[in-house]
Amino acid sequence: PRPLAGKRVLITAGPTHEAIDPVRYIANRSSGKQGFAIAAAARAAGAEVVLVTGPVELDDPQGISVMRVESARDMLHRVEAALPVDVAIFAAAVADWRVASEGSQKLKKTAAGMPPLQLVENPDILATISKLKEKRPPLVIGFAAETEHLIENAKAKFARKGCDWIVANDVSPATGVMGGDRNTVHLLSREGKDVTVDSWPVMTKEEVATALVSRIAREVGTGS
Ligand code: CTP
Repeated sequence: PRPLAGKRVLITAGPTHEAIDPVRYIANRSSGKQGFAIAAAARAAGAEVVLVTGPVELDDPQGISVMRVESARDMLHRVEAALPVDVAIFAAAVADWRVASEGSQKLKKTAAGMPPLQLVENPDILATISKLKEKRPPLVIGFAAETEHLIENAKAKFARKGCDWIVANDVSPATGVMGGDRNTVHLLSREGKDVTVDSWPVMTKEEVATALVSRIAREVGTGS
C-alpha cells in the first residue's frame, strides 16, 4: 500500500552548525537518524520526499531529494524554497543561538583572556512555517526534545509553536536517544481545546518512523 502517493512531504533532520570562525562552530549531539528514518518511511509509503538536513554522517536515502545545509538560517531558506508541501515534519535539532558576528579569521588567544562570544537567537523554523498565512502546510509536525518535565514542557512548546502535532521525546543522557537507535515518544495532538497525549512503547527509530507515517497517512492519506 502506498497511502501517501501523490503527497509531498518535507522533513528536517540533524543538528545545525553555527560558525564561530573559520575553524570552530556551535553544534549539538543530534545524529539525524530519526529524521532520516521518517524520510525513508514516508518514501516507502509513496510520498515525494524532500529532506533538509544539517551535517550528519548518514548516506542519502534512496529516492529522496536531500539538501545538506550547515546553519539554521540555511535550513530555513531551503525549507521555504521547498514549499508548498502537504506535510512538514521538523525533526532537526536546530541550534538556538549563533554568534552575533562570525570571525573572518581564527580567534586567537590574547593576553586579555578569553574572547567574549556574543550570541543572538536563530530563527525558529517550525514556528515560522506554522504561522505562515499562505503556503502553510496542511499538517505541520514538530518535535520536543526535553531532558526534564517531558510532557509539561512539550505541552508548553506545543502551545507556543503553532504546529498541529508534537512528538515529545526524552533526550536526557540516560536514555541514549541522542545518537542511539531507539526512541520513546509521546504524540501530542488536539481534540478541540484539549491536548491528547498518546504514549508509544520504546521502539527503534525506524519503528517510530513507520508508526508516525501510519498516523500521517490516516490523517492526510489517499488510502490507495
Ligand atoms: N525548531 C526549529 N527552529 C529552531 C528551534 C527549534 O525549527 N530554531 C524546531 C525543532 O525542529 C523541533 C521543535 O522546534 O521540531 C522544538 O525544538 P526543541 O529543540 O525541542 O525546542 P526549542 O524550540 O529549541 O526550545 P527549548 O530550547 O526551549 O527547548
